[in-house]
Amino acid sequence: MKVLSIINPNIVLFVGDISDGSVKIIKKINEIKIPTFVILGNHDRGKDSTGETLSKQIRVLGEKYCAWDLKVFNNQINLLSARPCSSGGGYYLSKEVKGVYGPITEQDSINKIIKCSEETIEEIPLIIMSHAGPSGLGSEPKSICGKDWKSPSLDWGDRDLSAAISQIQKRRKVDLVIFGHMHNRLKRNLGLREMFKIDSKGTIYFNTAVVPRYKTDEDGKLLINFSWIEFENKELRHVSHRWYSESGEIREEDKFF
Ligand SMILES: [Fe+2]
Repeated sequence: MKVLSIINPNIVLFVGDISDGSVKIIKKINEIKIPTFVILGNHDRGKDSTGETLSKQIRVLGEKYCAWDLKVFNNQINLLSARPCSSGGGYYLSKEVKGVYGPITEQDSINKIIKCSEETIEEIPLIIMSHAGPSGLGSEPKSICGKDWKSPSLDWGDRDLSAAISQIQKRRKVDLVIFGHMHNRLKRNLGLREMFKIDSKGTIYFNTAVVPRYKTDEDGKLLINFSWIEFENKELRHVSHRWYSESGEIREEDKFF
């Protein structure tokens, strides 16, 4: 994570699938000196249906942990987090999540997300972060949240998130929805996924799941992938996937916006 202190963003967001339930990896996140916010993914639940493994990670992350809540960063960004540990595919609450939060219905989840949006500061941008993206963005394997690993292909997004976004958009602008989960490289040799989309309301959807996040250049030097976003005068100005060298140089950039 040394490279993060060199490229020095204002905030760092993790959108899950970090630890496979290992608290050791989660503890590493606490070493980051830059303000950091984390929503956990389906792979972070561990295989402990009591939810205790998940609870431990939540405790370790403390203030950095995000799920169904709103954090306003520096009076500059509304950061709203959706349902944690989602594996996509409409609505499914795993035993681990149930162990921590109790039996949350799809409608409960929608209501929780909308409720957070009611506390947002109107004049500053709203980022919604989740592990899986919302449904309604396409049902092809290459769609931003499309199921690619098995036929038939399907829209594999979160229905609760999609329903909540539609409601929130009636009241205020949703600038960016950022998520991971659905890898950029499709299974069955189907090529690459679409990682960026804008809807008719101007909301940008950005999939950050470039997997693996590490590769080497032609000289065998390590390159690390980060998704990069920039706001300027409260407007989103830049969205890209970037490959950085360990010394913080941008070596490749896939610019979407
Ligand atoms: Fe995932």
